[in-house]
Amino acid sequence: MKSALIFISFLIASFSALPVKEETTISGYSLDVSQPLTNSSIMSFSIDRYAGIIVRVFETNTTSFDKSMLSTLNNAIAYHSLRIEAFMAPTMFAKLSGSEQFDVVANNFRNNSIGFVNTVYISVNDTKLFSTNTTANSAFIESIVTRGMQLKYNVGIFTNSKLWKKITDNYDGLDGNVRLWYWANNGEGIMNEGAPNFNDFKSFGNWAKPDIKQFAKNEMVDGAKVNRNVFAIRKN
Ligand SMILES: *[C@@H]1O[C@H](CO)[C@@H](O)[C@H](O)[C@H]1NC(C)=O
Ligand SMILES: *[C@@H]1O[C@H](CO)[C@@H](O)[C@H](O)[C@H]1NC(C)=O
Ligand SMILES: *[C@@H]1O[C@H](CO)[C@@H](O)[C@H](O)[C@H]1NC(C)=O
Ligand SMILES: *[C@@H]1O[C@H](CO)[C@@H](O)[C@H](O)[C@H]1NC(C)=O
Ligand SMILES: *[C@@H]1O[C@H](CO)[C@@H](O)[C@H](O)[C@H]1NC(C)=O
Repeated sequence: MKSALIFISFLIASFSALPVKEETTISGYSLDVSQPLTNSSIMSFSIDRYAGIIVRVFETNTTSFDKSMLSTLNNAIAYHSLRIEAFMAPTMFAKLSGSEQFDVVANNFRNNSIGFVNTVYISVNDTKLFSTNTTANSAFIESIVTRGMQLKYNVGIFTNSKLWKKITDNYDGLDGNVRLWYWANNGEGIMNEGAPNFNDFKSFGNWAKPDIKQFAKNEMVDGAKVNRNVFAIRKN
C-alpha cells in the first residue's frame, strides 16, 4: 500500500515535470465550399456527421457578392443541424476599401435576410492580394476586422503561420476575439491530408489557440467538391 502510494507520487511528480502543452479539443468536423451545393449534398453532410459548412460568398476579382451562394446558405439553414459560416478573400488592389469590401458581404446578407451567419472569415492566404508593405497589409486587415465587429459579426482569419508572417510580419495587434482558421495539408486529395487534429498548432500572431483547421483540400464528399476541417468551440 505504502509503496503503491510512493509509486503514484513518483508518477505525479514525473508528469508534472513535463512541460504542459494544452491541446485544443475537437468539437466536430466542417466543410468549406466555393461552389453551390445541392440539397442532397447538404442533407448527406448532416447524416455523415459534418456539423457545419463555411461558404465562400465574395468574388474577389469583381469585389462583389457571389449571389450563386444564396440558395446554398438558405437551403443549409433549412437543415438546422448545420452551423453556417462564411469566408471572403478581400484584396488591397481594389477600388473599395477593406471596410467597404466587408460591407458588400454584410449588405447582401441583410438584403437577402441571411441573418444566421455569425462568423465571417477573412482570407489572408494569397500574397497576390496584398502589398509587400506588411504594416499597410496589417492596417488593411485590421480595418476589415473592425468593420465586421462593429456590425456584430464574429470575425476570423484564414491563414497559416508562414503566410501570416509573410503578409503581416506576424502582426499581433488583432482583438483577442478574432478567430483563427489555419490550414495544414500537403496539397490536394486524400494522399496529401494533414492530421485531423490540432496537435501541430504553434501559437503565432495573437493566437494562443486555434478555432478551425483545414486539413484536407479538394476532396469529393457526398457529391460536392469540398475542403475538410476540424473545429473547436470557443467558450466565449
Ligand atoms: C480572377 O483574376 C485572375 C487574374 O486576373 C484570373 O487569373 C482568374 O482566373 C480570375 N478568376 C475568376 C474567378 O474570374
Ligand atoms: C431545397 O430545400 C429547400 C428547403 O427545404 C427547399 O425550399 C428547396 O425548394 C429545395 N431545392 C430544391 C432544388 O429541391
Ligand atoms: C440593399 O438594399 C438597400 C435598400 O433597398 C439598397 O439601397 C442597397 O443598394 C442594397 N444593397 C445591396 C448590396 O443589395
Ligand atoms: C491558400 O490556402 C490553401 C489551403 O486551402 C492552399 O492550398 C493554397 O495554395 C493557398 N493559396 C494561395 C494563393 O496561397
Ligand atoms: C508602409 O505602409 C505604412 C502604413 O500605410 C506607411 O506609413 C509606410 O510609409 C509604408 N512604408 C513604405 C516603405 O512604403
